[in-house]
Amino acid sequence: MALVLIRQDGKIDLWKNALLKANPDLPTYSYLEEHPKEDITMALIWKHPEGSLSIYPNLKCIASAGAGVDYIFEDETIPNAIPITRLVDPYLAGDMSEHVLASIFAELKNFNTYKVQQTQAVWKPKNYRRITDVTISIMGLGELGALTAKDLVQSGFKVQGWSRSKKSIAGVTTFSGNNDLNKFLRTSDFLVCLLPLTPETNGILNTVLFEQLPKGAYIINVARGGHLVDNDLLAQLDNGHLSGACLDVYHQEPLAVTHPFWKQPKIIMTPHYASVSDTKSVIPQILENYKNLQNGKELMNVVSRKKGY
Ligand code: NAP
Ligand code: GLV
Repeated sequence: MALVLIRQDGKIDLWKNALLKANPDLPTYSYLEEHPKEDITMALIWKHPEGSLSIYPNLKCIASAGAGVDYIFEDETIPNAIPITRLVDPYLAGDMSEHVLASIFAELKNFNTYKVQQTQAVWKPKNYRRITDVTISIMGLGELGALTAKDLVQSGFKVQGWSRSKKSIAGVTTFSGNNDLNKFLRTSDFLVCLLPLTPETNGILNTVLFEQLPKGAYIINVARGGHLVDNDLLAQLDNGHLSGACLDVYHQEPLAVTHPFWKQPKIIMTPHYASVSDTKSVIPQILENYKNLQNGKELMNVVSRKKGY
């Protein structure tokens, strides 16, 4: 049994060293080095090259080194019958919640507007809104969405959440399913997307949805670029129906320098860094799953192939 690390973001050595520090006896390989393909039972991956998993005849688990698994389902060559796991981690959820709160406060207190005015040496006060003035709506009440909703309630916001199945979270007005979507949207001053990217949620942030929001609503997309129809957002910002957007994720990453988002002053962009897997925090669960695999025990955090998350 052995583990192979596959990722293309220059962090293979970081992950390999962290795994070996936690368990020096673990046979761990980078996919870039010479390694015995038939020994590999677990692949710990992040945005792997398409097709790179099909060379392991004894692969028994595909482990995502992040919360999302959309990139795995996009690869049609992945083996059919083996489990796919993902990370569930308190830092991943906590960092996301902090990022969303920071995005909301920056907009509430007009920092985004003032940053633009600063580049033009413009002194122009703008009325600010208070926590009690706005309703924050979270699409997706899973590991990240639920904690973010709870933290927003703690901060004193009115909070709503929407998910596939009905949830009960103290202080949060919850909605579920497509029939509830309009009711959820029409009172949303800030709309936060924390859905997984699946065939059902692909392109969900589009004109039809935006038009159901109150005028002046603000969009925060921290889930995946594929949720957003870029031109629909740009049109709604241009016509003034939406007041702005804070984006962390894009169809293409890094975003092409020619993309119109760069030049739209109502958009704040961060480079897909809202919440990043912390090796120290997540490696114990990866090692535990490796052990579970070795001992034929049930794996933790297995995703549903049927639901796609
Ligand atoms: P999760 O625990 O799987 O939760 C997903 C939530 O979305 C669940 O509440 C689920 O409803 C809901 N949902 C799924 N499909 C839906 C649909 N068709 N209609 C309504 N609700 C639907 O996921 P998570 O761990 O919170 O992560 C969410 C996403 O955040 C990830 O998939 C990833 O794309 C993104 N992410 C981004 C970053 C970043 O740095 N930007 C970092 C980590 C993760 P049910 O509860 O009823 O199933
Ligand atoms: C990051 O985007 C993740 O899915 O963990």
